[in-house]
Amino acid sequence: MSLNDIANQLVKAGVGIMAADRPPPAFYDLLEAEGIAADEGAYRNWSELLFLAPGLNKHVSGIIMTDEQVLLRDSKGESLVEQVIQRGMIPGISPFKGMVVLAGSAGETVGSGLDGLRERLAEYAEMGVGFSKWRAAFQIGPGTPSDYAIEANAYVMAQVAALSQEAGIVPIVEPEVMLWGDHTIERCFAVTEWVLSRTFEALYLHRVDLEGTLVKASMVLSGDKCAEQADVDAVAEQTVKVFLRGIPAAIPGIVFLSGGQSDYHATAHLNAMNANYELPWKLSFSYARALQRAPMAIWGNKPEKVAAARTALLHRAKMNGLASLGLWKEALESEAGVS
Ligand code: 13P
Repeated sequence: MSLNDIANQLVKAGVGIMAADRPPPAFYDLLEAEGIAADEGAYRNWSELLFLAPGLNKHVSGIIMTDEQVLLRDSKGESLVEQVIQRGMIPGISPFKGMVVLAGSAGETVGSGLDGLRERLAEYAEMGVGFSKWRAAFQIGPGTPSDYAIEANAYVMAQVAALSQEAGIVPIVEPEVMLWGDHTIERCFAVTEWVLSRTFEALYLHRVDLEGTLVKASMVLSGDKCAEQADVDAVAEQTVKVFLRGIPAAIPGIVFLSGGQSDYHATAHLNAMNANYELPWKLSFSYARALQRAPMAIWGNKPEKVAAARTALLHRAKMNGLASLGLWKEALESEAGVS
C-alpha cells in the first residue's frame, strides 16, 4: 500500500485511531495511584483488553503502541500486532523515548529517540506497523512556547516524518499546544497558528510527502484555568479557522488528541466541527484518555471486569466515530447503560 493509501485508510469514514502508547512507567504510576498492583502482567492484560476488544474495528482503524506493546504476546502466545492486523486495524508505533529539556531553555522540552531510528523503523515496518506518531508538547505561559522550542521540535518532528516515510510508514506529526494554564482561547489560537506554520515549514524543508502524512492536533481551547471558557461552537469555529490557515489541503486527515478534555467535550467538539463545516481534510480522533478513562475506571486488573470495561471502551469509540461524521447526539450517551 502507498503512504497515501495507508493515510486514507486510517481516516476512512466513521473511524479514528486509538492511542494506547502509555509507556510502562507512566502506566504503573496510574495503577498505583488507584491502589492497583502494577507489573508487566497488568500491562499485558490492559493492552490485550484494549487491542482485542471484539468489534473495536468498527470504530477504530489503527492503534498506536509502544515499543513494549509491539512485542507483546497474549496469554496463548500469539502476537498482539498480528491479531490487530487480522482484525483489519493498522498497528502504529510511538518510537519516542521520552521528553528531554532543551539546553538553555526555561524547562521547555523536545522528544528523544532519534538515535538508531532508521533501523528501528525498518524493523517495525517488517512487523507490519503502518504508521508512527511523534509528539511535541508546548506549554503556554509567560514567554512560552519560545521560538527556540517551536523550531527545535518542528525539526525533530520533520526528521521523524521523513525517516518514517523512507521506511514506508505514514508519520503522524503531533504538535500539541497544551490545555494547562489560564490563557484565553485567543492566545491558544495565536500559539497554534505559529506552531502549525513552523511545523509545516520544517516538513517542507525535510521533503516530507504531505499526501502520506497525518496531523495529530490539539483543539483551540481556553486554558483549563481561564476564567472565561469558550463554548463548543467557539472551539469548533476557532479550531477550523486555525487549521484552514495552517494545514495544507494535501494532508488527508487531522486526528485530534484529547489533551485532558472530558470525554464529553472531546466528542462534542469533534462533532461540532464535522457537523457545521465543509472541510478539505477528514477530521477524526486519535484519543488516549477520552477513549480509555471510562474503561480504566471499571477494570482494576480484574478478569471479571474485562467485559464491562470493553463495553465502556466501545461506547466511547462509537460516540467518537459518530462525531467524526458529525452524527453524534448527546442523547446517544446513555446507550448501553454507560454514561
Ligand atoms: P490524549 O488523547 O490522552 O491527549 O493522548 C493522545 C496522545 O497520544 C498524546 O500523544
